Amino acid sequence: MAQSTYQTVVLAQRPKATIVPGETFALKENPMISEADLKDGEVLVEVLYLSLDPAMRGWLNDVRSYMPPVQIGEKMRGATIAKVIASKSKKFSVGDLVTGNPGWTEVAVIADTDPSLQLANIPSNGKITDVLGCLGSTGLTAYFGMTDIAKVKAGDFVVVSGAAGATGSIACQIAKLKGAKVLGVAGSDDKVAWLKELGCDDALNYKAADFKEQFRAKTPDLIDVFFDNVGGEVLELAFSRAKMFSRFVICGAMRIRVQGFLVFDYVKEYASARKELAQWLAEGKIQRKETIIKGGLGAAEKGLVELYNGVNTGKLLVEVKADSESVASRL
Ligand SMILES: NC(=O)c1ccc[n+]([C@@H]2O[C@H](COP(=O)([O-])OP(=O)(O)OC[C@H]3O[C@@H](n4cnc5c(N)ncnc54)[C@H](OP(=O)(O)O)[C@@H]3O)[C@@H](O)[C@H]2O)c1
Repeated sequence: MAQSTYQTVVLAQRPKATIVPGETFALKENPMISEADLKDGEVLVEVLYLSLDPAMRGWLNDVRSYMPPVQIGEKMRGATIAKVIASKSKKFSVGDLVTGNPGWTEVAVIADTDPSLQLANIPSNGKITDVLGCLGSTGLTAYFGMTDIAKVKAGDFVVVSGAAGATGSIACQIAKLKGAKVLGVAGSDDKVAWLKELGCDDALNYKAADFKEQFRAKTPDLIDVFFDNVGGEVLELAFSRAKMFSRFVICGAMRIRVQGFLVFDYVKEYASARKELAQWLAEGKIQRKETIIKGGLGAAEKGLVELYNGVNTGKLLVEVKADSESVASRL
C-alpha cells in the first residue's frame, strides 16, 4: 500500500549547550506528496542518505552567522543524496540520482532552478554515498584547505586534527599525495590504527593521558602545516609547535586569515614606512599620546610592572633624564 504520509524533522527548541535527543528536534508526519502536486520545472525526490555535519549545531543558534539560523518549527537543514521519483522537469528524469539540500525529510519537491540540485555522478570505483563524502563538501573542503589555503608541498610536515573524520581523513591523504609527511590526531586507538592504514606516517590519540608529551616528541622539527578540524586544546598545542611561516588552516571556523608577524620581518622597509608615518604626523593625520614615568632609571622596574597593569595610554617611557638636563643639550 502506498505511504499516506512522510516524515520530516523540525527544530522544536534551541539547545542551550548540546543537542538533547527527544527535545531539540521533533518528528513531524506530513500528507504524502504525489506527482500531481508538482508544478512545471519541479521534481519529487526520495531521500536516500542525509549528511550529518558539525556545522549543524551552529545553525541552531539564533545568532549572526554565514547562513541564517533554522527557525523553531522549521524543517532542519541538511544535504542529501536522493532519487527522483516523479519529474515535471526537462533537466531531471525519474530514476536520476541527485544531490541537493532538501533538509531532514523523507521526500521533497525541489525546483530544477535550485542551484544545489545536481545530478550525482558516481565515478568508477565510487559508491553513491561518495557524493556526500569524499566527493561532497567535506572532500572538497579537504581539497581546497590543503591545496589552496595550506599550499602543501613535498617535504612539508603536516599535522591534521580530527584526522579520522570526513574532512580530516581526506586532508591527510591529499597531503601524502603531495609528498608531505603527515601526523594525524584523532580520538581513539582504532582511529589511530586506521590513519596508519591510510598512509599517515604517524598518528596520535588525543585522549591518551600523555598526549601532550607524545605530541611534542612527534613534532621535533616543528610543524609546516596544521589543518585544524576541531579547535581547542590540540590547536593551542599545535601553535606551540609551529615553525616560522607555517600555515594553519582553521577549517572549523570562520573565513578569517590569522597571520602572525614580527616587525623585524620588515627591516628593509623601515625607512619608507617612517617617511610615511612622519608625513602623517606632520599633517596632523595621526595623533599620539605618551605616559612618562619620572624618577630616573630607578623608576624603570616599577614602570615595567605597571605596563602589564595598563598604566599607560599611548607609549610608556621612563624619563631617565629630562631633555633640558641632558649632557647632549649642554654641548
Ligand atoms: N570550512 C568549511 O567550509 C567546512 C566544510 C566542512 C566542514 N568543515 C569543518 O571541518 C571540521 C570537520 O568536519 P567533518 O564534517 O569532517 O566532521 P568529522 O570530522 O567527520 O566529525 C567530527 C569529529 O570531530 C571529532 N571531535 C568532536 N569533538 C571533538 C573535540 N572536542 N576535540 C577533538 N575532536 C573532536 C570527533 O572525532 P574524534 O574521535 O577524533 O574526536 C568527530 O568524529 C568541522 O570543524 C567542520 O565544521 C568546514
